[in-house]
Formats: sequence, C-alpha cells, structure tokens
Amino acid sequence: MCGIIGYVGPKGVVPVLLDGLKRLEYRGYDSAGLAFLQDGRLIVQRSVGKIRDLENALWGKDFRGEIGLGHTRWATHGRPTEENAHPHTDCRGELVVVHNGIIENYLALKQKLKAEGHTFRSETDTEVLAHLIEKYLRDADLPTAVRRALKEVTGAYSIGVLWQGDPDRLVGARASSPLVVGLGEGEFLIASDIPALLAHTRNVLFLDDGEVAVLSRDGVEVTTMDAEPVTKDVERVAWSPILAEKGGYKHFMLKEIYEQPRAMRDTLLGRYSLEQGRIFLEGMEPLEEALGQVTRVTLVACGTSWHAALVGKFLLEEIAGLPVEVDYGSEFRYRSPLVDAGTLFTAISQSGETLDTLVALREARKRGCPTAAIVNVVGSSISREADGVLYTHAGPEIGVASTKAFTSQLTALYLLALHLGLRRGALDADGVREHLADLIRLPQQAEAALRLDGEVEALAQRYATCRDFLYLGRGIHYPVALEGALKLKEISYIHAEGYPAGEMKHGPIALIDEQVPVVVLAPRDKVYEKILANIQEVKARGGIVIALGTEGDAELAEKVDHCLAVPRSSRLTSPALMTIPLQLLAYHIAVRKGCDVDQPRNLAKSVTVE
Ligand code: AGP
Repeated sequence: MCGIIGYVGPKGVVPVLLDGLKRLEYRGYDSAGLAFLQDGRLIVQRSVGKIRDLENALWGKDFRGEIGLGHTRWATHGRPTEENAHPHTDCRGELVVVHNGIIENYLALKQKLKAEGHTFRSETDTEVLAHLIEKYLRDADLPTAVRRALKEVTGAYSIGVLWQGDPDRLVGARASSPLVVGLGEGEFLIASDIPALLAHTRNVLFLDDGEVAVLSRDGVEVTTMDAEPVTKDVERVAWSPILAEKGGYKHFMLKEIYEQPRAMRDTLLGRYSLEQGRIFLEGMEPLEEALGQVTRVTLVACGTSWHAALVGKFLLEEIAGLPVEVDYGSEFRYRSPLVDAGTLFTAISQSGETLDTLVALREARKRGCPTAAIVNVVGSSISREADGVLYTHAGPEIGVASTKAFTSQLTALYLLALHLGLRRGALDADGVREHLADLIRLPQQAEAALRLDGEVEALAQRYATCRDFLYLGRGIHYPVALEGALKLKEISYIHAEGYPAGEMKHGPIALIDEQVPVVVLAPRDKVYEKILANIQEVKARGGIVIALGTEGDAELAEKVDHCLAVPRSSRLTSPALMTIPLQLLAYHIAVRKGCDVDQPRNLAKSVTVE
C-alpha cells in the first residue's frame, strides 16, 4: 500500500524523507514524491518508478528545508504517472497532501469543487483533499481547515498535510488507514509504519480513527475531529533499526525465514509455566469471562494468515474441544454470518491493517461477538479494535511474502488453544504440560529444518523452469500445502496449487506428467499410508514427487524422486516445521528466476483496500 513519511525538526528534511521512504518500500509502490518548505516556499518533486528515480530527479539541487512530507504510491485511482504521484497540491501550489487509502466520495467532491472554480491536474481521489483544505483555509487555520475538510470525506485514509502559510506545522490524520507518530528529541515524525521512524526514535503513538495530530518542533498535539484534545499512550518500540534492516541476508524474505526460531521463541516467551502447567496471555484479559462461556470459534483472515487459521481449526478443536469455523475476511461480512455472543471471533493478521479482516472484525463486534486478534504489529488497527489481543512477536516482517509471521501465528494459536482448553476444563495442568513439552521444542526443531536449505536450493536449481507445481497434504498438513503453493506463486510467478491429497483423484490428477513436480507432505502420522497411495498414483503417471517426510523414514525415500527429512515432532507442531522447506523452495526458485523476491509484482505487504 502507499507509504507516508513526514518530518519536522533540525535535520535536513530531504535525506530524512528519502530514507524513510526506502524503509517503506516493502509496502509496494509504483511512484514516489516529496515536498518541503525552503525559504518560505513549497518545493515539490515527484517521479514514477522507484525511489532512486526520485533521488535522481533531486540530484544536484540545493535543498535546506527542515519540514516536509514524502510518499510512495500504490495506485488505486489513476494510473502510475507523475501527475498522479503524491504529494498533491492545491490550486496555488502552496499546500500539499499525501494520502494512503481511498476517498470513496471523491467524484462528488471534485464536481462540487470544480463548480467553485478549482482546477484539477490529476485523476486521483487524493487531490480532492488538497482543494478541500485550500477552500477552508480562507477563514480557518491549518488544523481547523483539515478537520473541516475531512468531515466531508467518506472512505479510508491516513494523510499528511503541509502549507507554506503555516511553515512550522505538519498535520496528520487517520480513518481506517494506519498512521504512527514518532516522538524524538526536538523532532517529530508521522509515518505509515514503524520501520520509517526507527532511525530517529523508538517512542511512538498510534492515531486512532477520527484523530488529528499537529506536529511542530515544540511537540505533538492530538485532537478529535471536533478539536477536543486527546491524551495518547506513548509506546516504546523494541525493534532496533538494524532488526528492520536485512541483517546481511540477500533479501528480507530469507532473513525472515531464518528468524523463525527466534520469532517462535519470542512468541512463547513469558506465556507459559511448565512446572505449573499454566498459560499467561497478556492482552487477552478483557476476554477472560467470555472465554469461559463461548460455545464456538470463528477464525477470520486473508492469504497466508487464512492458512494459519486452517491449522488453528485443528488445534482449537482437538485441544479446546470447541467447534471452529474458518472464513476469508472478504467473504465473512457478505455472508450474513451466524455469529453472536457465544462465538469467539478471532482475526488473524500480520499487519493488523488488512481491511477485509478489519471490516469483518467490525461486523462481528456489531453482532455481539467477543473478539480477539492475533497480530504482529503493535498498535495496529485490528489489534486496537479487538477486545483482546495476542501479539505474535515475530518482529518487523518486511518481505511481502509472509514467512515468520505465519509460523509465529501457528505458535500463538497453539498457546490460545491451550489457554482455552484450560479455561473450559477440556484440559488440566498435566495435559498442558504434555503439550508444552512439544511446543517449547519447536524453535530448536525449526533450527534443524533450516539446515535443509542446501538440499532445497539444489531442488530449486533443478525445477525452477517448471511451469506448474502441485502441493498435496492431508489433515493438518493440507493448509501447509496451500501455504507452500501460495509462497511459490506469489514470488516466482509459477502456477502452483495446493490440494487435499485425497482430492487428487477427483480432478487434479489430470495435471500430472513428467513436467509437473508434485510436492507431498508425508509425515509419519495417522494418514501416512493414504499419502503413500497418493504418491504411487503420481508416480504411476510419470509425475515427479518431492516428498517432505519425517527424518529417518527410509521407506518413503525409496518411493519418491526427492525426499527432504524434516525433524521429528508432534503432529500439532509439524505444520510449522514442514512449512520451512516450502518457504525455502519458493525463495530459491524465485531467486533463480531473477524475480523481485521482497517486492513481487502486483502485490503489497498490507492490503488496506477492499
Ligand atoms: C502472504 O505471503 C501474502 N503476502 C498475503 O496473502 C498476506 O498473508 C495477506 O494479505 C494477509 O495479510 P495480513 O496477515 O497482514 O492480514
């Protein structure tokens, strides 16, 4: 999605803005721009393409400003052109706006403003905001003009505004699209996401919907849309700037694949007592009473997080004894869902800003559900709108393809299942201890699974030119087959499908030939014999079988073309381990194909539009 950065303080603003935009590149974009005040004049520079193109456009120019705004645009209204790039200005070119989100009523507003004499230069919805604020500036100060303008707007937005008539202040505001404020020493920033701030401060506050922040060198004032002051909690972000960097890896995605053992450990840290057989889920306290009364669970998510929800169904049903329904965010709200106070609605989201999931959460709240969120980003919209939150402590996930967040979500779901099982009497302390004995070994088993990297890279070299892949799994490993297929298709652009292995004979088997590698999840569990039969069906048609089996399974190795030995684990922790070689396979194939691994085409890290 679009990225916003704003700065006011003693530093040269242009390098601050450019660096901030680079830390937001992972959000996906097709153009970039910035604006700053210098000697009382507003200077705007925009360019199509990457931030280096914007830097080239600025090359050799003199800039000394100390207040400004930057933006990376992921086109929603209007093609990726320089005219449509942000910042957008008013008629006189004295005010600029940067925006993330969608102004749903922009056409009506644009017609009205045109009738009042405003001339427009772009096809975007954002430009309407610049003219609307300009209109109200005739008899109001900047913050008031911004509030008045936003009251006429419907849709999702986070914005930054700068006006040469008020050269010492920046204004930020949000409705449904995240905006975080950085509080430095004599310098203050706004940004769409935390990594853009970390080089300057770790003290942040998160705007809520309908809040407006006014930044100057003296500090930050937050108000409602009616100018009522709002007191905000300042949160300290533990992520160091380095952690958000690549840490020596070629891509963020590879770094994040290798961070999974630490992410699992951090997600477990402080949340259990082995000797007491207890679970402590800080952040879920508001749900304590409801958890004892709910009769079922609905898990809602999108993409990879939806795959985590499918694994969560197995964990919650088997451990907590509760029926679980899983739904896509984009489907849930249009289904007239039969949920109520007896349904624990749980949103799962890495970014905590996926609008499909956020809107589903709001729908569930309207229907009286107690709501929980399993989220990775502290202070994100979903985490703040749910009754209870269980953070995955995976750290910043910059690569568009989600990896460590997924296995951290599985870890968190296991903890939630144990907590619910205890709370409902489906499990006692001894039962919790047994599960914990398996769960706390997961990080070290993940370290062992990462040691498959070399073997996986060799497979990638051999099969990177194939045009179709099939991923098969049964039971709790079927969601892992879906996740493996999604990883491959989203970063290598190779067609890949995940399927329940038992379904192959109902259609997909027609796809099998010697050009189609079939990746089969074949741990030694209760459906192992069935999986072996599926493998035979593939081999009988000349297909290539890449099996992920339990280490030491010599029988499997003899039946397939390639066998990756995944560390032995319990059935409920196996999905996280089996996922790791599939992430590596997708990564190495994409690298061999020369794809943009961290920012694959057409994709964004956080989809904050419907
Ligand atoms: C995952 O690799 C994808 N990039 C995408 O499917 C993602 O999982 C989905 O958009 C949901 O994002 P969220 O977890 O931030 O809500």
